[in-house]
Amino acid sequence: MASRSYQNPPVSPSSIARDRLSSISSHIMGSSNPSVFTTSTVAAAPEDPLFGLMKAYREDPSDKKVDLGIGAYRDNNAKPWVLPVVKKADDAIHNDPNLNHEYLSIGGLPDLTAAAQKLIVGADSPAIQDKRICTLQTISGTGAVHLGGLFLSKFHPQKPTIYLSNPTWANHNQIFTNVGLKIASYPYFSAKTKGLDFDGMLQALRAAPSGSVILLHACAHNPTGVDPTQEQWREIATVMRERSHFPFFDTAYQGFASGDLVRDAWAIRYFIEQGFELCVAQSFAKNFGLYGERTGAFHFVSAPGAEGAVANKHIASQLAILQRSEISNPPAYGARIASRILNDPALFAQWEEDLRTMSGRILEMRAGLRERLESRGTPGTWDHITSQIGMFSFTGLTETQVKILRDKWHVYMTKNGRISMAGLNTHNIDYFAEAVDSVVRETS
Ligand SMILES: Cc1ncc(COP(=O)(O)O)c(C=O)c1O
Repeated sequence: MASRSYQNPPVSPSSIARDRLSSISSHIMGSSNPSVFTTSTVAAAPEDPLFGLMKAYREDPSDKKVDLGIGAYRDNNAKPWVLPVVKKADDAIHNDPNLNHEYLSIGGLPDLTAAAQKLIVGADSPAIQDKRICTLQTISGTGAVHLGGLFLSKFHPQKPTIYLSNPTWANHNQIFTNVGLKIASYPYFSAKTKGLDFDGMLQALRAAPSGSVILLHACAHNPTGVDPTQEQWREIATVMRERSHFPFFDTAYQGFASGDLVRDAWAIRYFIEQGFELCVAQSFAKNFGLYGERTGAFHFVSAPGAEGAVANKHIASQLAILQRSEISNPPAYGARIASRILNDPALFAQWEEDLRTMSGRILEMRAGLRERLESRGTPGTWDHITSQIGMFSFTGLTETQVKILRDKWHVYMTKNGRISMAGLNTHNIDYFAEAVDSVVRETS
């Protein structure tokens, strides 16, 4: 084979000069390209308040410290609790010789998504019978909220505003803003009654432009612990129907609030019965204690009618594309645990028992705290501690009081006065009541 000879292209004097200049400047500057992402283009973000609180708690050396910040269940010894039923399912999966670590499909584990659907809308739901519900497994509840937000942002023809309760889970604001939805709020909590500002809420829903998206916490509202009664849910549905609003349910505490899975899903099932087109973001973090396994689901229920099932198929296909581009496919391990429990009647019954253990301990702490504050004669009223439900209580303590509780008593809670009831136990409840009593007197 004949060899070829390669020749370098001729070098012009101007390119030699340019190279020399660039080499001198990189010698002086230390880098040949100027930085785009300087401190002036990227401002330092504030620390996530909740995770900052956790850090401060961990670093506090006091042996009296009390953590009422993070929304995760703790047992009576302030330790994370692996649900016995989860341990059982986990062991079985772990010992299964056929277990592998292949990818799940884009929509997740089919046994989980089918069971998750029945769990939230009811096995006999008209949405399932009419095949107008689709479900994708997601990165826990956060991923489900995000997927729903992204879908609405891309496909809702009116680019509507999403209305969030005031207050709400702080991440709602960030997630919906990130996907380009406009956000607004509706009144929810009455500082006066420490209950629902029902009139304010209905008024805002009436005033919102027709066809708005309304985010509703299905049960155990975070951060207030205040839920509408069934009668109030009916009225909310009536107003939303009149205004053609779209309900976006967020359910992170099913079974954890009342201890009863069906009761905690009541509002969602009622809205479906009423013929709403809606979506649901479902988390299995709290009710299975699968926080770090990131297990959840997103459901879209199409409106009843001739087109419902076909429209739902279209929606499912678009959700799959969005999911593929965002996470490709969801994580498998937590899904396997939840699926095994949901699909096995004996394990399911044991799960219900575990849910009652968690919700029951929280109810005891609510009653215990109220009783202690009332018997001390702590200024103010404390009945809201027991009328609120779920993981959190909105105590009504002010930012100043929260600061004193932290600085002087080593009690950690968010500055809006929210406490995680699961952080209380028989060892620290007296101390906490004493701290609240002292701080409320000191500041009133
Ligand atoms: C109202 C609400 N929605 C969604 C979530 C999502 O949680 P996760 O992503 O851990 O399932 C939470 C968790 O605190 C919540 O309180």
